[in-house]
Amino acid sequence: MRMRANRCASWVALFGFFLAVSNGSATSIALRSGWAFVPGAQDLIQTGQWGCTAGLTSTSAALSITAPNSGYSTPINTAGPRLQGNGDFSVIATFSNPATAGSFLTLVGTLSTGSVWWNGLMRLDAGVANNAVLVNYWTGSSANAASHSYPLPDGASDPITLEAARIGGQITVFVNGTQVGSFGDPGLFASGQAYLGFNVAPGETLNVTALAAAMPAGSNVTLYSPGVLLATRTGSALRDLAAPSGLLMGAAADASLLPLTDYSQALGREYGLVVPENDLKFAETEPAPRQFSFCRGDQLLAFAQANGMAMRGHNLVWEAYLPSWLTSGSYTPAQASGILQEHINTVVGHYKGQLVDWDVVNESISDTAPYGLKASYWLTQLGNSYLDMAFQWAHAADPNAKLFYNDYGGEGLGGKADAIYNYVKGMLSRGVPIHGVGLQMHVTPGNVPSQANIAANMARLAALGLEVHVSEMDVKLPVDANGNASAADLAAQAATYQNVFAACQAAPNCTEFLTWGFTDSHSWIPSTYPGNGAALPLDANYQPKPAYAALSGNLRSNSVSRPAIAPHGIVIHGGSVAVISPGSLVDIYGTNLAAEPVTAQGFPLTPSLGGVQVTVNGTAAPLYYVSPGQVDFQIPYSIQAGSALVQVSSKGVAGVAAAISVQPAAPSLLTYVDAAGSTRAVVQNQDYSINSASNCAAKGSYLTVYLIGSGPLDNAIPTGAPAPSSPISNEALTTTATLGSVPATVTFAGMAPGFVGLMQVDLQTPDVSGNVPLQIQVGLYSSNQALVCVGQ
Ligand code: XIL
Repeated sequence: MRMRANRCASWVALFGFFLAVSNGSATSIALRSGWAFVPGAQDLIQTGQWGCTAGLTSTSAALSITAPNSGYSTPINTAGPRLQGNGDFSVIATFSNPATAGSFLTLVGTLSTGSVWWNGLMRLDAGVANNAVLVNYWTGSSANAASHSYPLPDGASDPITLEAARIGGQITVFVNGTQVGSFGDPGLFASGQAYLGFNVAPGETLNVTALAAAMPAGSNVTLYSPGVLLATRTGSALRDLAAPSGLLMGAAADASLLPLTDYSQALGREYGLVVPENDLKFAETEPAPRQFSFCRGDQLLAFAQANGMAMRGHNLVWEAYLPSWLTSGSYTPAQASGILQEHINTVVGHYKGQLVDWDVVNESISDTAPYGLKASYWLTQLGNSYLDMAFQWAHAADPNAKLFYNDYGGEGLGGKADAIYNYVKGMLSRGVPIHGVGLQMHVTPGNVPSQANIAANMARLAALGLEVHVSEMDVKLPVDANGNASAADLAAQAATYQNVFAACQAAPNCTEFLTWGFTDSHSWIPSTYPGNGAALPLDANYQPKPAYAALSGNLRSNSVSRPAIAPHGIVIHGGSVAVISPGSLVDIYGTNLAAEPVTAQGFPLTPSLGGVQVTVNGTAAPLYYVSPGQVDFQIPYSIQAGSALVQVSSKGVAGVAAAISVQPAAPSLLTYVDAAGSTRAVVQNQDYSINSASNCAAKGSYLTVYLIGSGPLDNAIPTGAPAPSSPISNEALTTTATLGSVPATVTFAGMAPGFVGLMQVDLQTPDVSGNVPLQIQVGLYSSNQALVCVGQ
């Protein structure tokens, strides 16, 4: 029976749904009335660059401080963002595990200026100690703090939210929004700034699950991050020209160079994406066993976020750049596997939700026939399956990051390209979560795959459902002693960039184009290939080269056509039913809706097809067919009845939204009225016969139920379209069923095979008997009820 084969698919969909829902980030903070977040300070766990603060571990969801038994731990974030200004402000922190002996939010107005820790120190600690609110403060002339203690408000328990505020010359402390105490401010923040930190009593651990800064309307307080320069945008740089097409223009960069103004300005001005050239490699992020360091990566991320750039992760598994503690350690294979799993889990987990994609495995396929896996520490220790495992671990740590295999020498067609293609195809067939292939593209004008071969390679990877990125392009040239290349070579270099870039622009699955650096003043080429250099689009003085003009010129001449929905262009698919409801298959008519016709290949239907996405009130809809003039999609079951906005995006370019009216008619059981006048559901028993009062289903047997998601019960089923030959699991439906009010196990829910617009639910009959009402619930919607007979 169909239902057995389908069961798996629907469970996978359900599983995915639960994963998505449980993906919470930091707890959000409610503000007292009249107060607003200091701009950029609504989630300082994510944006606080905590990786640079010793004594504290950070993930994207929490900060954790464990004090040694020998003394207090007081990590203060001096490298990351701090508050600046003389107005009223507050800092609000949620402590999920307030220590019994002492957990404090620490705000430092002035760091210690002398050789003794308290010299000149202006510091406020507000926290919990021994079940009371305790506030300590230092004013720079004594090691001893002045203190105030206040009772905890009624009902305050783990977790608690503490707010330390400067309001009108007073320091005021709130717990869970209730004021607990206030005293005159001795000028703790007269410096005009406040560094953020914590203080934890000996032997205790504090987890901070939310952190934000706020201010009353009109207060003059800002969040300031040293090293996070805001680049001046021109509106006509590479990132701006590429934005309408959705293609991300990116470059590799080093956090240590961000203090160079020219460097930061060019990076933030030109690129919408940054990849750390070295800052996230294994030896950087785990320099000693289980000692993780995210300082540099966090700085780059803070720069990227401030400048509206995405960030790519590079890389998790590579034969190179491994720390010697690992390669010269004597670890067993099982230990090495544990080390890699913990490394991936920790590094990817630290950046969860913040990086768009990761190069999970770098350069692991050999350069020569038979193109097997390269000899490496990981191959020796973990064996052939290390790639699969690495992708699985990375996916578990950040289910939303796109995961890439990244390599050189396989960008066009040929032995190595075939080997990479076959390898990733194998990964897909094994169910490994891989989303794309990075084509590094370290080339020269004389040794670069042809545009046609790059296009062919991109196309065959697209046919596997994979994205591609040109991930590390540079074009090295012979240079003189001053690092200068000839004009002829610079022209050839421009042509090389242009051809590769044109291949990417033309490929719907090529979504990122990155160069390995961006200025000739900072590039790995001169030191790695002596006598060569000048490989990047900007020269050593940050001036555009012919290569830059080629990229920019291509972007200007390939302006993208915006999808447009025709007037009255949204209609129910192929049928007599005029009503659009959750679950309906709907057609959009218009122009520029897609680059070319594509019909969904596999199931479940995905929200992206041929570079097209459709949203209904912002929710991605499953797509069945796209073409320049027509797009067929399904109204998600989560859409509420009422007016809804439908928007089409093609290759990242969004069209103008159109309004439709969604009726709350779905799902509706198909029914018939029998000779006795009873309304009965059209249901197939396990032997394919129609269930009736005289043809009951056996208890525990399987039933197939039909519903429409598109209108009143008695209308004809909308057909007439080319129907898919296999079931369409439309989306992650939470579909449940009851028979005689007893829950029945649903084994499949999706579009019925062969009938576009008809929904099928397979279920197992529970322990009921007689003519009992059947009811199906899909997402928010309950069906009508109709009778089904279950054997006595
Ligand atoms: C290179 C960096 O550019 C150098 O600074 C570093 O010394 C070595 O690594 N392929 C890759 C990159 O995937 O990580 C390499 O980066 C260049 C080749």
